[in-house]
Amino acid sequence: MPTRATRTPRSPRAVRSLRTQHFLSLPDLSPAELADVLQAGLQLKKERARGVRRYGATALANQHVALLFEKPSLRTRCTFEIAVRELGGDVIAPPQDVAMGEREPIADVARNLERWVSAVVIRTFAQDRLVEFATAAPRLHVVNALTDEEHPCQALADLLTLAELFGELRGRTIAFVGDGNNVAASLAQGAMMLGMHVRLAAPADYEFTPQTVAQLEGLARKGATYTLIRDPRKAVQGADAVYTDAWTSMGQEAEAQHRRKVFAPYQVNEALMRTAGDAVFMHCLPAHRGEEATDEVMDGPASIIFDQAENRLHAQKALLMLLMGR
Ligand code: CP
Repeated sequence: MPTRATRTPRSPRAVRSLRTQHFLSLPDLSPAELADVLQAGLQLKKERARGVRRYGATALANQHVALLFEKPSLRTRCTFEIAVRELGGDVIAPPQDVAMGEREPIADVARNLERWVSAVVIRTFAQDRLVEFATAAPRLHVVNALTDEEHPCQALADLLTLAELFGELRGRTIAFVGDGNNVAASLAQGAMMLGMHVRLAAPADYEFTPQTVAQLEGLARKGATYTLIRDPRKAVQGADAVYTDAWTSMGQEAEAQHRRKVFAPYQVNEALMRTAGDAVFMHCLPAHRGEEATDEVMDGPASIIFDQAENRLHAQKALLMLLMGR
């Protein structure tokens, strides 16, 4: 296993409220704000583990958060519900058939909700729908709970999980193996902002777009690098973490057979993890076990997939507290 954090972490510095109104994309945060969210998340996690709930316990008092989900969710929905309640707020979940743009325009849904709630957490299709919603209701806080292009809340939890394991993330290497999808893009953005080396092992036509690569290069801090490496064995060598995700995401079911063929050489199995050496194994879940990763890896000693799932809660609590807290 990779070298864990060895020194006692410095006592936490005071974290500040976020300057952004919305969290639509990881770069809505500055690198310092991203570090603040991770630090607050770790603090919230420690308190919760001790059965203490002082930090942020009334941050959302008298505030409602609406959850608008146009796609299925286990982790994101459950952890946002718990997060809001543990911060002293309340959630509403408008039914899907009235939610986003079929019964009435997206902008009208936003302008209605703006009169009742403080924030809306949205899982939808194109990122443009999220931007349209946020633009129509500038008093609301709008949070991206996954779009076709980005999954920034997942990236917060992933980086928190790595920070918990390694301490300082600057100079660490993460190899994402498989589809250069929304999870990969948000993770790469955050990792680059924190000075990590990001490697993407993807087949042709499934790598990041040139626009995403240009954005990643613009986000790079503290010596961060981005490299596309076609061969997954080369990509994982010496990495601190190997990450994969389903080859077929929600909405791509018609392509499933083709994708299984294209991505077969990118399966994360015991042989690939041996090549990686001491790397931890990460997956955002849900997984198609036996496709992108084998059971042996998912349930093996290097797997931290359920730590990632747990940390969705702590990362999102920190985000909401610093975005909305009074
Ligand atoms: N990782 C993730 O977003 O899980 P859900 O789809 O279950 O929310």
